Amino acid sequence: MSDKKPICLSGKGVTKVFGLGAKKTVAVDHVDFEFYQGDLISIVGESGSGKTTIAKMLLGLISVTEGEVSFLGKPRDISTHKKKKEYWTNIQAIFQDPFSSYNVFSKIDTVLIDCINMRGGKNFSKQKKIEMMTEACSFVNLKYAELTNKYPFELSGGQMQRLMIARIFLLKPKILLADEPTSMIDACSRATILDMLMQLRDEIGMTIIFITHDIGLAYYISDQVYIMEHGKIVENGTPDEVILNPKAEYTKRLISDVPKIYEEWDLSTV
Ligand SMILES: Nc1ncnc2c1ncn2[C@@H]1O[C@H](COP(=O)(O)OP(=O)(O)O)[C@@H](O)[C@H]1O
Ligand SMILES: [Mg+2]
Repeated sequence: MSDKKPICLSGKGVTKVFGLGAKKTVAVDHVDFEFYQGDLISIVGESGSGKTTIAKMLLGLISVTEGEVSFLGKPRDISTHKKKKEYWTNIQAIFQDPFSSYNVFSKIDTVLIDCINMRGGKNFSKQKKIEMMTEACSFVNLKYAELTNKYPFELSGGQMQRLMIARIFLLKPKILLADEPTSMIDACSRATILDMLMQLRDEIGMTIIFITHDIGLAYYISDQVYIMEHGKIVENGTPDEVILNPKAEYTKRLISDVPKIYEEWDLSTV
């Protein structure tokens, strides 16, 4: 199904090397990928496999040592500040630690108004901006009236995570990169967060790149799965291809830590 959709983001031979000489770390090693518009793509691997490094390269926060990233079929050009800002209207991220995502000196209103401004709403009336902020907050079950004049650090972890999704609601990026966004919160909020992301995906056709070490979760939520080991993509495909019929030893090992998937599979073969 996926191959009928346009390619949103792709990479050829994408590599990141940190350091020099004896201190050299090849964090991402010649990876190829094709992400289709509207898909939820999971990148799965153990800690240290290079997931966050890929995320940072895709966001343009760190340089690519070798290889090329393409956006909407053309080589990505983020060589100037202006081009980078333009690119960032298309790709946004939410990170594992919501505390790290906010400027501590910005009030919640400022955080949200910045999003409206970024999407061309600079000249909207104050009333219009308040309406938009109220709508974004209610999308994530927060009350704007209770947040106005507060700072992000006055919120709970779960509320802060939802505020990040309210930002995405306003920014409406083509691509959302979510780097282990649910690993710091309880199972209940985790399901809610995933639900909100899926709803946004369906409403605005957003592509979601979901980074996780949880192969069981990836099985249930993904259209495409990429498995990373030591900076390399060892296999990729649909969840059924990759997780029910793994070819790489590494994938088999990741799955063996999650007995539930095997149970499902056993049931389906009865
Ligand atoms: N800024 C950096 N400088 C040097 N090495 C780094 C840097 N960032 C990440 N690494 C190394 O790159 C590898 C991949 O890290 P990372 O992308 O954070 O993995 P993951 O997100 O899968 O846990 C690790 O060996 C890590 O130590
Ligand atoms: Mg990481």
